[in-house]
Amino acid sequence: MVKKIASCVLISGTGSNLKSLIKSSREYTFPLKIKLILSNNNKAYGLRYAKKFNIPYKFFNSKNKNLFERNCLKELKKKKIKILCLDGFMKILSKNFIKVFGNKILNIHPSLLPKYKGLNTHKKALLNNETYSGCTVHFVNAKLDSGSIILQKKVKIIKNETENSLQKKILIQEHQLYPKAIRLLFR
Ligand code: GAR
Repeated sequence: MVKKIASCVLISGTGSNLKSLIKSSREYTFPLKIKLILSNNNKAYGLRYAKKFNIPYKFFNSKNKNLFERNCLKELKKKKIKILCLDGFMKILSKNFIKVFGNKILNIHPSLLPKYKGLNTHKKALLNNETYSGCTVHFVNAKLDSGSIILQKKVKIIKNETENSLQKKILIQEHQLYPKAIRLLFR
C-alpha cells in the first residue's frame, strides 16, 4: 500500500483544480490523500466536490485574517495535515502561517511566472502581446507568487485570442499540471 501524505486543499471559488486533484488522489499511486478542504467562501462552488466525494470540509470567514488563520491551523493540526495545496485561494497567507508549513504549501497560478503575478494574468499577457502564456505550480513563500517554481506549462496565444479563450485553454492545462507537479515532487 502506498503511504499517502495527508493534505488539504484551500479554495475560494470554482475548484476545478480541486476536482482534478481529487480525481488524481483516488489513484493508487498518487502521493497525496486529500483529508480536508478549507474555504474562505461559504458559497464556493468547489465545496460541492467536498460533498460529492465525501471529503471533510470547513468554511472560515477570512474578514479577520488572524482569526481565519488560527481557525485553519487548529483544523489542520486536528487532521494532521502535512501538505497544503492552494487552488484559486484568493487570500494572501501571513508569514507566520507560512512558517508553520515551511515549504509544504503549493500553489497553481495562471501565468508563466515570474511574469504576471497577482490578478488579471490573461489580460496582462494579451496587452503585452505575448506569444505564449501558461501556468505554473510553485511553492508559496511570503511574497506573492514568488516561491520557487516546480513545473510550468506553456500555452500558445493565437490570433484573436480573448481573455476568456485564453483562460479556458490554460485552465485545461492546469488540471494536468497540478497533479503532475505533485507526482514529480513526491515520487
Ligand atoms: C485557476 O486558474 C488558478 O490558477 C487561479 O485561479 C483559478 C482557479 O480556478 N489562481 C490564481 O489566480 C491564484 N493567484 P479553479 O477554482 O476552477 O481551480
